[in-house]
Amino acid sequence: MESVWMEDTKIRTREPLPGDLEVPAVVIGAGLAGILTAYYLKQAGIRAVVLETDRIGSGQTKNTTAKITSQHNLIYARLIRTFGRRMAEHYASANEAAIGEYERLIAEKGIRCDFARRPAYLYSRTGTGLLARETEAAQSLGIQASFETECELPFPVAGAVRFGRQASFHPLKFLAALAEEVEVYEQTKALKVEGRRVETARGWVTAEHVVFAAHFPFINVPGYYFARMYQERSYVVALEGAERFEGMYLGIDRDGLSFRTCGDLLLLGGGSHRTGRNKGDRAGGGCRYGELLGRAREICPGSREALRWSAQDCMTLDGLPYIGRFSRRRPFWYVATGFGKWGMTTAMVSARILTALIGGRECPEADIFSPQRHFTAQAAKELAVHGAHTVKGLAKHLLPSGNRAIVPNCPHMGCRLERNPDEESYDCPCHGSRFDREGHLMDGPAQTDCRRKK
Ligand code: FES
Repeated sequence: MESVWMEDTKIRTREPLPGDLEVPAVVIGAGLAGILTAYYLKQAGIRAVVLETDRIGSGQTKNTTAKITSQHNLIYARLIRTFGRRMAEHYASANEAAIGEYERLIAEKGIRCDFARRPAYLYSRTGTGLLARETEAAQSLGIQASFETECELPFPVAGAVRFGRQASFHPLKFLAALAEEVEVYEQTKALKVEGRRVETARGWVTAEHVVFAAHFPFINVPGYYFARMYQERSYVVALEGAERFEGMYLGIDRDGLSFRTCGDLLLLGGGSHRTGRNKGDRAGGGCRYGELLGRAREICPGSREALRWSAQDCMTLDGLPYIGRFSRRRPFWYVATGFGKWGMTTAMVSARILTALIGGRECPEADIFSPQRHFTAQAAKELAVHGAHTVKGLAKHLLPSGNRAIVPNCPHMGCRLERNPDEESYDCPCHGSRFDREGHLMDGPAQTDCRRKK
């Protein structure tokens, strides 16, 4: 199940870490956030090396629909209400600036990655109230937003919020080009971080600054990110023979879909659910892709599936990413995680903020993204829901399992794994680690494979 981005991109392989190293900064994770951070650190005169467990771009960067946008579902009206206007402005301006910075960087380096400015829309088939409020909030923060009652989609909408001058690109072509300017060691898994020292199987890296940019931080304490985030899966089918749309779309209704044209293909996304909360193990499995294809037949009759893939996203309690100092107890550790569904734009925001913090520069926009920001009522409610999932997952850990090969308890903290019939994997409902049928680790925060039955 390879994404459309993997089909036509080869990223040059890099050697593993040759031995112990001492550098000003080390970045864990060679996805978009890690590579961008190391690049901007280098631009700021700070040498940074990147450690990658597998290959550059082998994590979630390859699974995106690659929208670069400040339109992050319904967010601005809520941000103004919850955090106040100044903080909401910081969120909006950081994301708008990220789009502009991609454009500038791509032009400066001459990177051929299909970057194009295009509008982004949130649509609803049922109501306009939330969309009208969002339009007003976005406008008040300086975003080029308008409320529309018509759009290109092949079905009627009640309304849509249009953000002008958003963008799309080919994430792996961009990553492959930028990674050429960065010092990366592949096949070098970070096993442990003790103070300023990162242990890998290939040696130690000692650094004044340590950046965790590998999707979900694998350190439990301090930071407690496992208690402050959960993960979601979502699904994409790439359709041939479907209509092309200039805009990029996201439905806000319960069954809303994501649309984004990419060359001759239409990328249709949907079916989000908490990782580990799978539908019943129906005969034949494949239920989420099946549902998406059913919607495709309805909306784009005559289209055919060309590709399918899935994504895994870290969701925070208040819906905002955690970018900044990892913990008050480790002021020289930094983190970029909890990007929700907006990894492309947020990767750039992270790189800019972390470079400023490490370089000792003022960054007023950092406050709204800080992992130490104040705890909202929404976050408290989500914490209770998240806690209940964890308790349930832990309580089930002694049940027998149908898998004869592996012990179905998550090596992270012991929750009972659930079979995912769509992808033939075993997924953890507590914090979202995933394993293949043989128990090999696919996604963290777990660090090791499942134990095998004797
Ligand atoms: Fe934490 Fe499984 S991911 S217990």
